[in-house]
Amino acid sequence: MASHHLPSYLALLLAFLLPPLAASQWPSCGKNGNYTTNSAYQANIQALSATLPNNASASPTLFAVAAVGTRPDIVYALALCRDDANASTCGDCVSQGFTDAQKLCPYSKAATVYYDHCYVGLSSNQTLLSPTGGDNGALILTNQQNVTAPVRAFDAAVGALVNATAAYAADNSSRRFGTGEAGFETVDKAKPKIYSLAQCRPDMAPPDCRSCLADITAYIPKYMSGKQGGRILGLRCNYRYEQYPFYSGPSLLQLPAPSIGAPPSQAPAPTPVNATPVSPTPVNATPGSPPPPGGGSTGNGAAGILPITLPIVAAILASVVI
Ligand SMILES: *[C@@H]1O[C@H](CO)[C@@H](O)[C@H](O)[C@H]1NC(C)=O
Ligand SMILES: *[C@@H]1O[C@H](CO)[C@@H](O)[C@H](O)[C@H]1NC(C)=O
Ligand SMILES: *[C@@H]1O[C@H](CO)[C@@H](O)[C@H](O)[C@H]1NC(C)=O
Ligand SMILES: *[C@@H]1O[C@H](CO)[C@@H](O)[C@H](O)[C@H]1NC(C)=O
Ligand SMILES: *[C@@H]1O[C@H](CO)[C@@H](O)[C@H](O)[C@H]1NC(C)=O
Ligand SMILES: *[C@@H]1O[C@H](CO)[C@@H](O)[C@H](O)[C@H]1NC(C)=O
Ligand SMILES: *[C@@H]1O[C@H](CO)[C@@H](O)[C@H](O)[C@H]1NC(C)=O
Repeated sequence: MASHHLPSYLALLLAFLLPPLAASQWPSCGKNGNYTTNSAYQANIQALSATLPNNASASPTLFAVAAVGTRPDIVYALALCRDDANASTCGDCVSQGFTDAQKLCPYSKAATVYYDHCYVGLSSNQTLLSPTGGDNGALILTNQQNVTAPVRAFDAAVGALVNATAAYAADNSSRRFGTGEAGFETVDKAKPKIYSLAQCRPDMAPPDCRSCLADITAYIPKYMSGKQGGRILGLRCNYRYEQYPFYSGPSLLQLPAPSIGAPPSQAPAPTPVNATPVSPTPVNATPGSPPPPGGGSTGNGAAGILPITLPIVAAILASVVI
């Protein structure tokens, strides 16, 4: 038996041994400064939690920043939902962010919690409000499963797709949001597409968004080579790629499959799909539910004959200050 074909009991055991990683929220806690119970700082967080979820979900860009209180207890907050989230998903996600920030980063003045559909940042530092100031404070997450396709061809396709999606978000979207899909059927018939998403704070100028995404996509070769999925989540920008569709709605751009046996040396020209509707299966994953194992929602018939499909678990690999 090939080493990557784990017996199913072992796969299940592994899944249960990884509960914190299987969770679909990822905190990044500050290290400089704590508040105390019943302090003005805590009251200011409560005040923000009462209005920011609604403000973010009511905003056309699903984005809100705010400050509540007075020095030295002023709290700055930021909330951004993924552009394909609806208002109720957005508001619920941001509310959860306030609860989890206080639970997962107890008494830390600075805390960011990332989810599939949104993230919420709290800080005593005003740079949080600026689209360019402060740290991006990124978390690197990867799907722990290796691709079965040739790694070189896969990495080249992911690099080209994520680059094109990032360029779309920075330059072709007033909401600083892009999604894309790349054909991969010439290399791997069982997993015929790769999907990606890139997003910046919608108040970022295109060059700032572009350079923010360039900084975090630069980690792809080091951390994501041969991995079925990965993401880097930062306060100002983020991206994600997977071998299954994980966003709602049609992909905003499409890349052709690489020609057989020849991984592309550079990004093929992206095709904006305004004129040609494409419909990847919408994924209505709720926060907390794992993505479909093996890309089940792609309608991929071959998935069913794989001997074992490990649950797809994203693990935090590293936290980097960018
Ligand atoms: C904040 O609290 C944590 C434990 O809750 C402690 O480890 C840390 O040293 C404190 N930081 C400051 C700046 O007081
Ligand atoms: C939410 O929006 C309202 C109306 O624009 C504003 O008065 C309030 O300060 C905002 N709250 C936050 C926390 O941004
Ligand atoms: C706020 O954050 C910026 C950027 O990380 C840092 O240079 C500055 O010293 C911080 N200010 C305070 C008051 O902590
Ligand atoms: C993926 O590949 C790496 C390097 O070859 C290996 O260390 C790791 O155990 C593999 N992971 C899985 C889940 O098979
Ligand atoms: C992606 O863009 C970076 C520059 O931002 C470049 O160095 C890299 O070669 C590109 N990768 C692909 C596969 O096009
Ligand atoms: C942006 O849109 C233009 C016009 O539709 C297109 O030519 C260009 O390739 C697009 N760029 C990206 C990065 O999608
Ligand atoms: C919002 O999206 C969620 C998850 O994608 C879905 O379950 C829900 O029905 C949607 N709600 C509305 C009002 O469209």
